[in-house]
Amino acid sequence: MLDGKYGEAKQKAIELLVSLGECYGAEEMIPVASAHLSSANPISAGKGGTNFIKNMAEKGGKFAIPTTTNPSSFDPWAWKEMGFTEELYREQAALSEALSKMGGLICNTCTPYLIGHVPRLREHIAWAESSAIAYANAVLGGRSNKESGLSALMAGITGRTPAYGYHLDDNRFGKLKIMVSVPLKGETDYATLGFFVGKVAQDRIPIFTGIPPSVSNHELKCLGAALATSGNVVHYHVVGVTPEASTEELASGFKKICSSDCIEVTLKEIKETEESLSSIGSQHANLVVLGCPHASIEQIKNYTNAFEGRRIKRDVEVWILTARIIRKFAEDVGYSNILESLGVRLVSDTCPVTMPRDFFMKKGYRAVATDSAKLVHYISNTKDIPCYYGSLYGIIHAITTDV
Ligand code: F3S
Repeated sequence: MLDGKYGEAKQKAIELLVSLGECYGAEEMIPVASAHLSSANPISAGKGGTNFIKNMAEKGGKFAIPTTTNPSSFDPWAWKEMGFTEELYREQAALSEALSKMGGLICNTCTPYLIGHVPRLREHIAWAESSAIAYANAVLGGRSNKESGLSALMAGITGRTPAYGYHLDDNRFGKLKIMVSVPLKGETDYATLGFFVGKVAQDRIPIFTGIPPSVSNHELKCLGAALATSGNVVHYHVVGVTPEASTEELASGFKKICSSDCIEVTLKEIKETEESLSSIGSQHANLVVLGCPHASIEQIKNYTNAFEGRRIKRDVEVWILTARIIRKFAEDVGYSNILESLGVRLVSDTCPVTMPRDFFMKKGYRAVATDSAKLVHYISNTKDIPCYYGSLYGIIHAITTDV
Protein backbone atom coordinates (compact mmCIF):
# COMPACT_ATOMS: atom_id res chain seq x y z
CA MET A 1 0.00 0.00 0.00
CA LEU A 2 2.81 2.39 0.87
CA ASP A 3 4.40 1.82 -2.52
CA GLY A 4 1.21 2.89 -4.27
CA LYS A 5 0.58 -0.54 -5.77
CA TYR A 6 -3.09 -0.38 -4.70
CA GLY A 7 -3.75 3.17 -5.82
CA GLU A 8 -3.29 6.70 -4.60
CA ALA A 9 -6.14 6.73 -2.07
CA LYS A 10 -4.88 3.64 -0.21
CA GLN A 11 -1.32 5.00 -0.32
CA LYS A 12 -2.39 8.30 1.26
CA ALA A 13 -4.50 6.47 3.84
CA ILE A 14 -1.76 4.10 4.96
CA GLU A 15 0.78 6.94 5.10
CA LEU A 16 -1.46 8.76 7.58
CA LEU A 17 -1.98 5.61 9.65
CA VAL A 18 1.77 4.94 9.75
CA SER A 19 2.33 8.48 11.06
CA LEU A 20 -0.36 7.93 13.67
CA GLY A 21 1.23 4.63 14.71
CA GLU A 22 4.64 6.30 15.00
CA CYS A 23 3.16 8.99 17.25
CA TYR A 24 1.81 6.35 19.63
CA GLY A 25 4.83 4.03 19.42
CA ALA A 26 2.90 1.20 17.73
CA GLU A 27 5.11 -1.71 16.68
CA GLU A 28 2.89 -3.05 13.91
CA MET A 29 -0.25 -2.55 11.87
CA ILE A 30 -3.15 -4.93 12.47
CA PRO A 31 -6.19 -5.84 10.34
CA VAL A 32 -9.49 -4.35 11.47
CA ALA A 33 -12.86 -5.97 10.76
CA SER A 34 -14.92 -2.79 10.43
CA ALA A 35 -14.91 1.00 10.59
CA HIS A 36 -17.49 3.55 11.70
CA LEU A 37 -17.14 7.16 10.51
CA SER A 38 -18.05 10.19 12.59
CA SER A 39 -17.45 12.92 10.00
CA ALA A 40 -20.36 11.92 7.82
CA ASN A 41 -22.03 15.34 7.86
CA PRO A 42 -20.91 18.81 6.77
CA ILE A 43 -21.03 20.24 10.31
CA SER A 44 -18.59 17.68 11.83
CA ALA A 45 -16.43 17.31 8.71
CA GLY A 46 -16.23 21.04 7.94
CA LYS A 47 -15.33 22.27 4.45
CA GLY A 48 -11.80 20.81 4.64
CA GLY A 49 -12.99 17.37 5.73
CA THR A 50 -15.77 17.28 3.16
CA ASN A 51 -13.36 18.15 0.34
CA PHE A 52 -10.87 15.57 1.59
CA ILE A 53 -13.51 12.82 1.49
CA LYS A 54 -14.66 13.87 -1.98
CA ASN A 55 -11.04 13.87 -3.11
CA MET A 56 -10.47 10.35 -1.78
CA ALA A 57 -13.58 9.18 -3.66
CA GLU A 58 -12.33 10.87 -6.86
CA LYS A 59 -8.94 9.16 -6.47
CA GLY A 60 -10.76 5.82 -6.57
CA GLY A 61 -10.72 5.21 -2.81
CA LYS A 62 -12.87 2.22 -1.79
CA PHE A 63 -13.56 0.82 1.65
CA ALA A 64 -11.83 -2.49 2.20
CA ILE A 65 -14.04 -3.47 5.17
CA PRO A 66 -17.67 -2.81 6.22
CA THR A 67 -17.80 0.92 6.97
CA THR A 68 -20.85 2.61 8.48
CA THR A 69 -21.71 6.30 9.02
CA ASN A 70 -22.67 8.40 12.05
CA PRO A 71 -25.64 10.82 12.00
CA SER A 72 -26.05 13.29 9.16
CA SER A 73 -27.21 16.90 9.58
CA PHE A 74 -30.95 16.25 9.15
CA ASP A 75 -33.62 13.63 8.65
CA PRO A 76 -33.49 13.01 4.87
CA TRP A 77 -37.22 12.21 4.79
CA ALA A 78 -38.27 15.41 6.57
CA TRP A 79 -35.52 17.99 6.01
CA LYS A 80 -37.76 20.52 4.29
CA GLU A 81 -40.66 20.11 6.65
CA MET A 82 -38.35 20.46 9.65
CA GLY A 83 -36.88 23.69 8.29
CA PHE A 84 -33.39 22.80 7.00
CA THR A 85 -32.01 24.75 4.07
CA GLU A 86 -31.57 23.64 0.48
CA GLU A 87 -27.87 24.54 0.72
CA LEU A 88 -27.30 22.18 3.67
CA TYR A 89 -29.28 19.49 1.86
CA ARG A 90 -26.96 19.74 -1.15
CA GLU A 91 -23.80 19.69 0.99
CA GLN A 92 -25.00 16.62 2.91
CA ALA A 93 -26.10 14.84 -0.28
CA ALA A 94 -22.67 15.40 -1.91
CA LEU A 95 -20.83 14.08 1.16
CA SER A 96 -23.08 11.00 1.50
CA GLU A 97 -22.71 10.35 -2.23
CA ALA A 98 -18.90 10.42 -2.00
CA LEU A 99 -18.96 7.99 0.95
CA SER A 100 -21.44 5.75 -0.85
CA LYS A 101 -19.25 5.77 -4.00
CA MET A 102 -16.44 4.45 -1.82
CA GLY A 103 -18.69 1.59 -0.71
CA GLY A 104 -19.76 3.07 2.64
CA LEU A 105 -22.93 1.78 4.29
CA ILE A 106 -24.87 5.01 4.73
CA CYS A 107 -26.89 4.23 7.85
CA ASN A 108 -26.33 7.57 9.62
CA THR A 109 -26.65 6.28 13.15
CA CYS A 110 -24.54 6.41 16.31
CA THR A 111 -25.78 2.95 17.30
CA PRO A 112 -24.56 0.83 14.37
CA TYR A 113 -24.44 -2.12 16.78
CA LEU A 114 -28.27 -2.02 16.99
CA ILE A 115 -28.67 -2.52 13.24
CA GLY A 116 -26.41 -5.47 12.60
CA HIS A 117 -22.93 -3.91 12.61
CA VAL A 118 -21.72 -5.88 15.63
CA PRO A 119 -18.09 -6.66 16.46
CA ARG A 120 -17.24 -10.02 18.00
CA LEU A 121 -15.32 -10.56 21.24
CA ARG A 122 -11.64 -9.54 20.79
CA GLU A 123 -12.25 -8.40 17.21
CA HIS A 124 -10.21 -5.32 16.24
CA ILE A 125 -12.24 -2.46 14.78
CA ALA A 126 -11.69 1.25 14.08
CA TRP A 127 -14.70 3.26 15.16
CA ALA A 128 -15.19 6.97 15.63
CA GLU A 129 -18.19 7.93 17.80
CA SER A 130 -17.35 7.69 21.44
CA SER A 131 -20.67 6.23 22.63
CA ALA A 132 -20.47 3.43 20.07
CA ILE A 133 -16.81 2.73 20.89
CA ALA A 134 -17.62 2.44 24.60
CA TYR A 135 -20.42 0.00 23.80
CA ALA A 136 -18.24 -2.02 21.41
CA ASN A 137 -15.32 -2.23 23.87
CA ALA A 138 -17.20 -2.75 27.12
CA VAL A 139 -20.44 -4.54 26.28
CA LEU A 140 -19.40 -6.51 23.20
CA GLY A 141 -15.71 -7.01 23.94
CA GLY A 142 -14.55 -5.66 20.56
CA ARG A 143 -11.35 -3.59 20.45
CA SER A 144 -11.31 -0.01 19.25
CA ASN A 145 -9.38 3.11 20.06
CA LYS A 146 -11.21 6.43 20.08
CA GLU A 147 -10.70 7.12 16.40
CA SER A 148 -11.10 10.52 14.82
CA GLY A 149 -13.22 10.98 11.71
CA LEU A 150 -10.00 10.94 9.68
CA SER A 151 -8.31 7.88 11.20
CA ALA A 152 -11.54 5.83 10.97
CA LEU A 153 -11.83 6.82 7.30
CA MET A 154 -8.23 5.73 6.66
CA ALA A 155 -8.81 2.45 8.50
CA GLY A 156 -11.92 1.85 6.39
CA ILE A 157 -9.92 2.34 3.19
CA THR A 158 -6.95 0.19 4.21
CA GLY A 159 -8.56 -2.32 6.59
CA ARG A 160 -5.67 -1.61 8.98
CA THR A 161 -4.92 0.30 12.16
CA PRO A 162 -1.76 0.76 14.23
CA ALA A 163 -1.60 -1.62 17.22
CA TYR A 164 -1.65 0.61 20.29
CA GLY A 165 -4.05 1.64 23.06
CA TYR A 166 -7.14 -0.51 23.53
CA HIS A 167 -5.99 -3.01 20.89
CA LEU A 168 -3.38 -4.38 23.31
CA ASP A 169 -4.31 -6.73 26.18
CA ASP A 170 -2.30 -4.82 28.77
CA ASN A 171 -4.17 -1.58 28.14
CA ARG A 172 -7.63 -3.04 28.69
CA PHE A 173 -7.50 -3.60 32.43
CA GLY A 174 -9.35 -1.39 34.90
CA LYS A 175 -7.40 0.98 37.15
CA LEU A 176 -10.19 2.65 39.07
CA LYS A 177 -12.79 0.89 41.21
CA ILE A 178 -16.25 2.43 41.38
CA MET A 179 -18.43 0.96 44.10
CA VAL A 180 -22.04 1.81 43.30
CA SER A 181 -23.97 1.74 46.55
CA VAL A 182 -27.17 3.37 45.35
CA PRO A 183 -29.90 1.48 43.49
CA LEU A 184 -30.10 3.03 40.02
CA LYS A 185 -33.45 3.38 38.26
CA GLY A 186 -33.48 3.53 34.48
CA GLU A 187 -31.33 4.94 31.71
CA THR A 188 -30.99 8.47 33.06
CA ASP A 189 -29.57 7.27 36.38
CA TYR A 190 -26.97 5.20 34.49
CA ALA A 191 -26.14 8.19 32.30
CA THR A 192 -25.72 10.35 35.41
CA LEU A 193 -23.42 7.73 36.95
CA GLY A 194 -21.38 7.67 33.73
CA PHE A 195 -21.08 11.44 33.64
CA PHE A 196 -19.88 11.58 37.25
CA VAL A 197 -17.37 8.75 36.77
CA GLY A 198 -16.05 10.07 33.45
CA LYS A 199 -15.00 13.30 35.17
CA VAL A 200 -13.16 11.42 37.91
CA ALA A 201 -11.65 8.73 35.71
CA GLN A 202 -10.42 10.92 32.82
CA ASP A 203 -8.51 8.25 30.83
CA ARG A 204 -8.48 5.44 33.43
CA ILE A 205 -10.70 2.43 32.73
CA PRO A 206 -13.25 2.11 35.55
CA ILE A 207 -14.36 -1.18 37.09
CA PHE A 208 -17.91 -0.93 38.42
CA THR A 209 -19.10 -3.09 41.29
CA GLY A 210 -22.61 -3.07 42.74
CA ILE A 211 -24.40 -2.94 39.38
CA PRO A 212 -26.88 -5.84 39.21
CA PRO A 213 -26.72 -8.41 36.37
CA SER A 214 -30.26 -7.32 35.45
CA VAL A 215 -28.87 -4.01 34.07
CA SER A 216 -30.22 -3.62 30.51
CA ASN A 217 -28.21 -3.05 27.35
CA HIS A 218 -29.94 0.35 27.03
CA GLU A 219 -28.72 1.33 30.46
CA LEU A 220 -25.17 0.25 29.56
CA LYS A 221 -25.47 2.21 26.30
CA CYS A 222 -26.29 5.36 28.30
CA LEU A 223 -23.60 4.66 30.92
CA GLY A 224 -20.90 4.37 28.24
CA ALA A 225 -22.09 7.41 26.27
CA ALA A 226 -21.91 9.62 29.35
CA LEU A 227 -18.53 8.23 30.50
CA ALA A 228 -17.05 9.10 27.12
CA THR A 229 -18.58 12.59 27.27
CA SER A 230 -17.19 13.91 30.55
CA GLY A 231 -13.97 11.87 30.39
CA ASN A 232 -11.74 10.28 27.84
CA VAL A 233 -13.04 6.83 28.71
CA VAL A 234 -14.21 4.53 25.93
CA HIS A 235 -13.94 1.27 27.85
CA TYR A 236 -15.27 0.09 31.19
CA HIS A 237 -15.95 -3.08 33.13
CA VAL A 238 -19.02 -4.06 35.10
CA VAL A 239 -18.14 -7.00 37.32
CA GLY A 240 -20.35 -10.00 36.59
CA VAL A 241 -21.86 -8.31 33.53
CA THR A 242 -19.41 -7.30 30.79
CA PRO A 243 -17.40 -9.96 28.92
CA GLU A 244 -13.91 -9.07 30.19
CA ALA A 245 -15.06 -8.74 33.82
CA SER A 246 -16.51 -12.02 35.00
CA THR A 247 -14.51 -11.33 38.19
CA GLU A 248 -12.93 -8.19 39.62
CA GLU A 249 -9.48 -9.82 39.36
CA LEU A 250 -9.89 -10.46 35.63
CA ALA A 251 -11.09 -6.90 35.11
CA SER A 252 -8.03 -5.45 36.86
CA GLY A 253 -5.52 -7.93 35.41
CA PHE A 254 -4.96 -9.31 38.94
CA LYS A 255 -3.46 -5.99 40.04
CA LYS A 256 -4.55 -4.57 43.38
CA ILE A 257 -6.32 -1.23 43.11
CA CYS A 258 -5.10 1.08 45.88
CA SER A 259 -7.65 2.65 48.20
CA SER A 260 -7.15 6.14 46.73
CA ASP A 261 -8.42 4.73 43.42
CA CYS A 262 -11.57 3.24 44.98
CA ILE A 263 -14.58 5.54 44.93
CA GLU A 264 -18.02 4.97 46.36
CA VAL A 265 -20.97 6.45 44.47
CA THR A 266 -23.97 7.24 46.63
CA LEU A 267 -27.25 9.03 46.07
CA LYS A 268 -25.48 12.33 46.82
CA GLU A 269 -23.14 12.09 43.78
CA ILE A 270 -26.03 11.03 41.52
CA LYS A 271 -28.29 13.87 42.67
CA GLU A 272 -25.57 16.54 42.51
CA THR A 273 -24.42 15.45 39.04
CA GLU A 274 -27.98 15.37 37.71
CA GLU A 275 -28.71 18.85 39.05
CA SER A 276 -25.44 20.26 37.72
CA LEU A 277 -26.41 19.39 34.14
CA SER A 278 -29.56 21.54 34.02
CA SER A 279 -29.57 25.29 33.57
CA ILE A 280 -33.38 25.67 33.50
CA GLY A 281 -36.47 23.96 34.87
CA SER A 282 -38.16 21.33 32.69
CA GLN A 283 -41.30 23.50 32.25
CA HIS A 284 -39.33 26.04 30.15
CA ALA A 285 -38.33 23.63 27.36
CA ASN A 286 -40.12 23.87 24.03
CA LEU A 287 -38.07 21.12 22.37
CA VAL A 288 -37.70 17.68 23.95
CA VAL A 289 -35.10 15.35 22.46
CA LEU A 290 -35.07 11.67 23.44
CA GLY A 291 -33.09 8.77 21.97
CA CYS A 292 -29.46 9.77 22.52
CA PRO A 293 -27.67 7.49 21.68
CA HIS A 294 -30.16 6.52 18.96
CA ALA A 295 -33.08 4.56 20.39
CA SER A 296 -33.63 0.82 20.00
CA ILE A 297 -37.06 -0.58 19.14
CA GLU A 298 -37.49 -1.56 22.79
CA GLN A 299 -36.84 2.02 23.89
CA ILE A 300 -39.31 3.32 21.30
CA LYS A 301 -41.88 0.93 22.73
CA ASN A 302 -41.17 2.28 26.22
CA TYR A 303 -41.44 5.89 25.01
CA THR A 304 -44.75 5.04 23.29
CA ASN A 305 -46.14 3.56 26.51
CA ALA A 306 -44.92 6.53 28.54
CA PHE A 307 -46.59 9.10 26.25
CA GLU A 308 -49.84 7.21 25.73
CA GLY A 309 -52.78 8.85 27.40
CA ARG A 310 -50.98 12.22 27.70
CA ARG A 311 -51.45 15.44 25.74
CA ILE A 312 -48.33 17.43 24.81
CA LYS A 313 -48.55 21.14 25.61
CA ARG A 314 -49.26 23.36 22.61
CA ASP A 315 -45.88 24.99 21.98
CA VAL A 316 -43.71 21.94 22.71
CA GLU A 317 -42.12 19.68 20.07
CA VAL A 318 -40.88 16.17 20.91
CA TRP A 319 -38.33 14.22 18.88
CA ILE A 320 -37.18 10.63 19.38
CA LEU A 321 -33.91 10.00 17.56
CA THR A 322 -33.30 6.61 15.99
CA ALA A 323 -31.82 4.77 13.01
CA ARG A 324 -33.82 4.63 9.79
CA ILE A 325 -34.39 0.86 9.88
CA ILE A 326 -35.53 1.01 13.48
CA ARG A 327 -37.98 3.76 12.54
CA LYS A 328 -39.24 1.48 9.75
CA PHE A 329 -39.64 -1.29 12.33
CA ALA A 330 -41.56 1.12 14.58
CA GLU A 331 -43.83 2.00 11.62
CA ASP A 332 -44.47 -1.68 10.88
CA VAL A 333 -45.42 -2.55 14.44
CA GLY A 334 -47.61 0.53 14.89
CA TYR A 335 -45.59 2.63 17.40
CA SER A 336 -45.09 5.43 14.86
CA ASN A 337 -48.83 5.92 14.36
CA ILE A 338 -49.43 6.15 18.08
CA LEU A 339 -46.54 8.56 18.59
CA GLU A 340 -47.54 10.75 15.63
CA SER A 341 -51.11 10.98 16.88
CA LEU A 342 -49.71 12.31 20.16
CA GLY A 343 -47.48 14.82 18.37
CA VAL A 344 -44.18 12.96 18.92
CA ARG A 345 -41.86 12.79 15.89
CA LEU A 346 -39.58 9.83 15.19
CA VAL A 347 -36.53 11.49 13.66
CA SER A 348 -33.98 9.30 11.87
CA ASP A 349 -30.43 9.70 10.57
CA THR A 350 -29.53 12.74 12.61
CA CYS A 351 -28.72 14.36 15.95
CA PRO A 352 -29.02 17.97 17.20
CA VAL A 353 -25.23 18.12 17.63
CA THR A 354 -24.71 17.62 13.89
CA MET A 355 -27.26 20.30 12.99
CA PRO A 356 -26.21 23.90 12.26
CA ARG A 357 -26.02 26.14 15.31
CA ASP A 358 -28.39 28.77 13.93
CA PHE A 359 -31.09 26.19 13.11
CA PHE A 360 -32.35 26.21 16.72
CA MET A 361 -32.53 29.97 16.93
CA LYS A 362 -34.31 30.29 13.59
CA LYS A 363 -36.87 27.69 14.61
CA GLY A 364 -37.53 29.44 17.90
CA TYR A 365 -36.36 26.56 20.12
CA ARG A 366 -35.61 28.54 23.24
CA ALA A 367 -34.78 25.66 25.61
CA VAL A 368 -34.23 21.90 25.28
CA ALA A 369 -35.12 19.06 27.66
CA THR A 370 -33.52 15.64 27.36
CA ASP A 371 -32.99 12.43 29.32
CA SER A 372 -29.44 12.07 27.93
CA ALA A 373 -26.35 13.30 29.80
CA LYS A 374 -24.34 13.28 26.57
CA LEU A 375 -26.86 15.35 24.64
CA VAL A 376 -27.40 17.91 27.39
CA HIS A 377 -23.64 18.43 27.63
CA TYR A 378 -23.16 18.98 23.90
CA ILE A 379 -26.25 21.10 23.32
CA SER A 380 -25.41 23.35 26.26
CA ASN A 381 -21.80 23.71 25.14
CA THR A 382 -22.01 23.83 21.36
CA LYS A 383 -25.41 25.36 20.63
CA ASP A 384 -25.63 27.76 23.54
CA ILE A 385 -29.19 26.79 24.37
CA PRO A 386 -30.39 26.46 27.96
CA CYS A 387 -31.16 22.84 28.80
CA TYR A 388 -32.96 20.66 31.30
CA TYR A 389 -31.67 17.17 32.08
CA GLY A 390 -33.74 14.59 33.91
CA SER A 391 -35.61 11.32 33.70
CA LEU A 392 -38.18 10.67 31.00
CA TYR A 393 -41.01 10.70 33.53
CA GLY A 394 -39.98 14.07 34.94
CA ILE A 395 -39.91 15.51 31.43
CA ILE A 396 -43.26 13.99 30.48
CA HIS A 397 -44.79 15.34 33.66
CA ALA A 398 -43.61 18.85 32.78
CA ILE A 399 -44.58 18.97 29.10
CA THR A 400 -47.89 17.08 29.02
CA THR A 401 -51.31 17.16 30.58
CA ASP A 402 -53.87 14.37 31.07
CA VAL A 403 -55.99 13.69 27.99
FE1 F3S B 1 -25.80 9.99 18.94
FE2 F3S B 1 -25.93 12.57 18.83
FE3 F3S B 1 -26.25 11.37 21.08
S1 F3S B 1 -24.51 11.29 17.73
S2 F3S B 1 -24.86 9.65 20.91
S3 F3S B 1 -27.63 11.19 19.31
S4 F3S B 1 -25.16 13.30 20.79
